[in-house]
Amino acid sequence: MTLKTILITGDPVLHTRALDVPLIDDYIRQLVQDMFETMDAAPGVGLAATQIGVGLRIFVYAYGTDDEEIRGVAINPELSISELSDEELDEEADAEGCLSIPGERFPLKRANRALLMATDLEGQDYQIEAEGWLARIFQHEFDHLEGMLYADRLMKPHKRHMKKAIKENNWGIPGLSWLPGKDYLEP
Ligand code: NI
Repeated sequence: MTLKTILITGDPVLHTRALDVPLIDDYIRQLVQDMFETMDAAPGVGLAATQIGVGLRIFVYAYGTDDEEIRGVAINPELSISELSDEELDEEADAEGCLSIPGERFPLKRANRALLMATDLEGQDYQIEAEGWLARIFQHEFDHLEGMLYADRLMKPHKRHMKKAIKENNWGIPGLSWLPGKDYLEP
């Protein structure tokens, strides 16, 4: 297992649509192991392959509640989501973060329900109906595979604040990355 460095916004891989996984082979199995290890070390609740520089349609997720821990890998996922409610944006409850924009959090409206359909590491198709935070994780990670970061979806004034944060950190250029456990203690 290898801990991978996580790309920071500005690298082209993060902003390019990822390609389908043609075959689940040893390379993919190793990649997914490394993704779990990197996500756990970060720590994060999700990680897409694009974030470690691999333009393939894979993400991992780990979401714990008091009752259960939902942990898995989604290969070649599809996602359908419910309509956005017209509730007002809640600055705290809707605050989202991303390991590719480490240390920053901004509120973003997401659909409250999502249906994830994907293939697991054994090549089996599965689906999960998610609500709330898990639905948000699925939407966030799926966006990564479309080459989209949550920064791209922010509304005013958060979009402007995000741009400022990226500028102040000297991000937004290719080739920047950080290593979990080393560069940022609490992203
Ligand atoms: Ni992210």
